Amino acid sequence: METVLSGIRSTGRLHLGNYFGALRNFVKMQHTDRCFFFIADYHSLTTHPDPKALHGNVKNVLAEYLAAGLDPEVATIYIQSDVPQVAELSLLLSMHAYIGELERTASFKDKIRKQPENVNAGLLCYPVLMAADILLHRATRVPVGKDQEQHLELTRRFARRFNQIYGTEFFPESQPYNFGEASVKIPGLDGTGKMGKSEGNGIFLSDPDEVIRKKVMKAVTDSGPTAPDSPMPEVIANLFTIMKAVSTPDTVEHFTGLWNRCEIRYGDLKKQLAEDIIKTVAPIRANIGDILADDAYLHKVASMGAERARASADRTVSQVREIMGITRF
Ligand code: TYM
Repeated sequence: METVLSGIRSTGRLHLGNYFGALRNFVKMQHTDRCFFFIADYHSLTTHPDPKALHGNVKNVLAEYLAAGLDPEVATIYIQSDVPQVAELSLLLSMHAYIGELERTASFKDKIRKQPENVNAGLLCYPVLMAADILLHRATRVPVGKDQEQHLELTRRFARRFNQIYGTEFFPESQPYNFGEASVKIPGLDGTGKMGKSEGNGIFLSDPDEVIRKKVMKAVTDSGPTAPDSPMPEVIANLFTIMKAVSTPDTVEHFTGLWNRCEIRYGDLKKQLAEDIIKTVAPIRANIGDILADDAYLHKVASMGAERARASADRTVSQVREIMGITRF
C-alpha cells in the first residue's frame, strides 16, 4: 500500500481541470492506498489574502471533495492550517532550500508577472511549504495535474538533499501519479492555456447546465479545416482534449473523423461536448448544495481529518527534529 497525498488551494470553486488533474484520482485511490487529501489554505494566502473569502472557500472545497465522492471514513481529509506541524516542517526544510532554485521556479516567475505589486516571501517559499505537505506524511504518490510537476521535482530534490546531508533514507522520493498515464492538462475555453480558477476560462463543478452550454458554445474556434488531415490549431485541439476527458472514445473518434474529412461543424462538436461535460458534472453538482448546508457534518469531517493528520504529522516532525539535532533536555 502506498501513501498518497494531494491538495487543492482554497481559492474558489473547483473546475474541470482540478477534477481531471486531481480530484477524480483522489476518489479512485482512496480505497486502495493510505490517502491524505487536504485543502491548502496557507498556500492560497500567497495570491488570495482576503480574510472574508478564505473561510467560505475552504468550506466550498471541502464540500466539493465530499460531493465528488471522497469518503472521510477511508481517506484522511483535512485543512492544512489545522495541522501546525506543516509550518514547522516547512521551516526546517527551508534551511536546505536555496534562494536561487526557488527564484527559478516557473510558478514563481509567473506570479512575478501576474502580481508584481505583491511578490511576497510566501510565493518564493511556496515549493518548500508544498514539499512539507507531502513529506509530512512521507507520501510516495502525489496525484496532481501537469502544472505541479516542477513542484514535485523540487520536493524530490529537497528530500534527496535532506537524506544526503543527514546520512539517512528518511524521506521517500514522491512521484506525481496518474495511473501510469502522462499528467493531465485541461485547457481553458479561450484558447490561451490551461483552465484555471482565476482565468475566467473555466467550467466549474457547480455550474448549472445552461451555464455550461453557454460557456462551451462561446469557446474560441477558427474558420475550420481547409484540406483533409490538416494539422489542428491549438484552439481546436483544446476542445478535443476536453472531449477526450469527458466523452466516450467513439465520440472522440467520430468528431476526429469529421475533422480529418473537413466535414466538421463546430456547433455540433460543441453541443456534444457540452452534454458530455454536463454528464460528468451533474452528479457531483447535485450533492454540493446539501453538503454545503450541513455545517455540523463539515465540521465533523474536518475535525476527524485534522486529528488523524496531526497524529501522522507528529510522528514525522519528531523524527525530523531528532535527525536535525533538535532534541529536548
Ligand atoms: P491548485 O489548487 O492550483 O490545483 C489543484 C489541483 O488541480 C490540478 N489542476 C489541473 N490539472 C489539469 N488541468 C488543469 N487545467 C488544472 N488546473 C489545476 C493541479 O495540478 C492540482 O493537482 N500547489 C498546489 C496545491 C498543493 C499541493 C500540495 C498539491 C499544495 N500542497 C501538496 C499536491 C501536494 C496547487 O496550487 O494546486
